[in-house]
Amino acid sequence: MQIRQTNQRFNFDKYPNFDRDVDPKQRAWIEVNGEAIEKNVRQLRSKLSRSCQFMAVVKADGYGHDAKVVSDYAIKGGASELGVATLKEGIKLRSSGVNKPILVLGNLYTKKDLIIAFKNDLMPTISSLRECLICNNIGKEFGLKFSLHLKVDTGMSRLGFESDKFIQEFEKIKSFENILIKGIYSHLSSADEDNSLDPKSSTQLQRLKFRQLLKQINVDSNNNIKIHLANSAGMLLNKNFHFNMVRVGLSMYGYSPSAKIDKNLSLKPALFLKVKVAFIRVIDKGVRVSYGGKFVSSRKTKLAVLSIGYADGVPRNLSGKIKVIFKNKLYPQVGSITMDQMMVDITGSDEIKVGSTMVLLGSEGDKTISPIDWARESNTIPWEILCSFKNRLPRIQVD
Ligand SMILES: Cc1ncc(COP(=O)(O)O)c(C=O)c1O
Repeated sequence: MQIRQTNQRFNFDKYPNFDRDVDPKQRAWIEVNGEAIEKNVRQLRSKLSRSCQFMAVVKADGYGHDAKVVSDYAIKGGASELGVATLKEGIKLRSSGVNKPILVLGNLYTKKDLIIAFKNDLMPTISSLRECLICNNIGKEFGLKFSLHLKVDTGMSRLGFESDKFIQEFEKIKSFENILIKGIYSHLSSADEDNSLDPKSSTQLQRLKFRQLLKQINVDSNNNIKIHLANSAGMLLNKNFHFNMVRVGLSMYGYSPSAKIDKNLSLKPALFLKVKVAFIRVIDKGVRVSYGGKFVSSRKTKLAVLSIGYADGVPRNLSGKIKVIFKNKLYPQVGSITMDQMMVDITGSDEIKVGSTMVLLGSEGDKTISPIDWARESNTIPWEILCSFKNRLPRIQVD
């Protein structure tokens, strides 16, 4: 047998019909259904009054779905603004042709970063007089007004002006001539858990505080300023949380932020996680499977090796706790999830072959596996599951 030397390269040019590109569906991938996003936005918007705007939160690459695809379909469904977390996320959307207002939800605190935001037509979130002054100076330097949103803390203790100093500071901000206050907002800390209508609940108290502050600075929904407080859970909890804009993430992607909220919604998950079977083996009774041998076969067992692991974003602590769908049947994952692969017990199936596609998240027939199920099993929240998927998984748009 002749062995090719490492310094010899295959000459692709000699074989023009040879396809050298790796199929994005070669091992594991995420399918994103843009129309589901569009329909979800439309459905959610139907719960808002006509004058209430919808900001689509597309940070963390659109909760792992692909921010550009999500933005395009959310806009089709009626989103009028977009929310990102970082400068880079905003710049990427701008340079891909998105022209709706974009709010950077994270904090920009250096003049350099705020100039970059200004030049890319991105609105920063302002949490202090100091940041506001920098924006005013930038506006002055360019002879323009710098559009921004002010944020006030009502109980999250993250970003935002301190509520008891805000009134005083707002008086000063009002005199700044080179800024344009496009919005005033706050963020709910517990609306997905604490979502009763009890006026003493932390969520209701945050709303009350926000409303009182707005009253004291004499700003309301008619001032041509976007007033926003609600995330998905706040929006679905009650109309009183809508003001004149809502900032929605999770429910736009097709998931309810809480089992207690709005049972009449029929949101459609937009994400499907799919994987190819890379290998099939049959093991005898009593054989250890995967690292640590934590699973031992209790009978002769047929195993499918799937090309996905924790390096793709499947939490390792889901080992032995999840199922996979193939042709409307569920198959249990067994043994430790490894970096790039995992094993599934497919005993009894003759249909599953090397190269078959199995569904880890999403629906097939009447079976559905949701990031909410994974979150419950791995003691986290669906937001984290969605944001964990790595770039190694190609995102493929399907409609
Ligand atoms: C400031 C802000 N607004 C809105 C959202 C959207 O939240 P949800 O995905 O619960 O709708 C987030 C998400 O973390 C956020 O940080």
